[in-house]
Amino acid sequence: MALPPSADPLLSGSVSSADPMRGAARIFSGLLEARTGQILSESRAWRMETALKPVLRAHGLSDMDALASRLMGHKDAMLENDVVNALLNNESSFFRDLQIFDMIHRHILPRIHAQRSDRTLRIWSAGCSTGQEVYSLAIQLCNDMARWRGWRIEILATDISTAAIAQAKTGIFTQMDVQRGLPVGDLLKWFDPSGDDWRANSALRQMIDFRTDNLFDAHAPQGEYDLLLCRNVLLYFTPERRQSVLRLLARHSHAGSVLLLGAGETVIGHSEDFVPHAEFRGGYGRRADAAAQSGGAMRRAV
Ligand SMILES: C[S@@+](CC[C@H](N)C(=O)[O-])C[C@H]1O[C@@H](n2cnc3c(N)ncnc32)[C@H](O)[C@@H]1O
Repeated sequence: MALPPSADPLLSGSVSSADPMRGAARIFSGLLEARTGQILSESRAWRMETALKPVLRAHGLSDMDALASRLMGHKDAMLENDVVNALLNNESSFFRDLQIFDMIHRHILPRIHAQRSDRTLRIWSAGCSTGQEVYSLAIQLCNDMARWRGWRIEILATDISTAAIAQAKTGIFTQMDVQRGLPVGDLLKWFDPSGDDWRANSALRQMIDFRTDNLFDAHAPQGEYDLLLCRNVLLYFTPERRQSVLRLLARHSHAGSVLLLGAGETVIGHSEDFVPHAEFRGGYGRRADAAAQSGGAMRRAV
C-alpha cells in the first residue's frame, strides 16, 4: 500500500531517543504497520528483539540500532521485507479450532455441495500463513472425495508474508507442526516423510494456489468465493482497516457465501455487508439486502 511521504515511518522515526531500543522499536513497528496494517501488540513488541536476531545475522548488523539506522539510511527493499516477515505473527496449526472444521465438514461443505449446480467449489483463505489452514481443508475434501468427484475445486490461499507463502508452497512441516492438530491417520495418508520433516503429497499441494498478496492492495482474488476464511488476521488491525478488509471480502462473496473469522474476531460493528450466519454458529453470511444489491444468490463473476 502506498503511503504519503510524511506518513513513512522510516522518515518520521528516530533512533536517537534517550532509550535507543525504544526508538528503534518504534521504527520497526512503524514499518510493519505501514507495510501490512498490523499493529504490534505489547506482548509481541517484547519479542521483537528475538524475532529480529536472524535478520541482524543475515545482514551482518551488530544490534537493533544498527538495523534501525540502516533502514533509515537508504532504501533497502530486501531488508525491509525481511524485517516485516520477521515481525508478522504467522502462528497457525492444523485444524485450528476443531469445532469450526467440524462445522465446515458436517454442515457448510454439504450445503455448498447441495446448492452449487455448476459443480464448482471456490474457497479463499486470506491470511493463510504457512498453510496449515488450507491443507486442513484440502484433507477434508480429499477424505470425502466420493462427494466431490467431478467437481472443479479451486482453493486460493494468500498472505502478505513472502516467507510464509514460500514455506506453504513446499508443503513441508516439522514434526512439531504436525503434532499440533493433525490426526495421525491423515498424516500417514496424505504426507510423506521428508528427512526429519513431513511433506504434503502432491495431490494435496496441487489443490492449493498459494500467492503473496496484501489485503490492502489485493490482486489475487478474482470473482466470488463460496467459503472465505480470514482467521486470526483482523485482530491486529485498526477498526478502519478491519472495515476495509471486510468490504474486500464482501466484494468477493455472494448471497450464499460463508465467512469464517478467528475465535476472537467478529464482523459486528465493522461491516455493513456481513451478519452472524443464521445456521452456522460462529460463521457469517451476507446481509440479505446487501447481497441483493450486489447480485443474485449464487452469482459468480470470474
Ligand atoms: C496469525 S496468522 C493466521 C493464520 C491462519 N489464518 C490461522 O488462523 O491459523 C495471520 C496471518 O495474517 C497475515 N497478514 C497480516 N497482515 C496481512 C495483510 N495486510 N495482508 C495479507 N496477510 C496479512 C500474516 O502474515 C499472518 O500469516
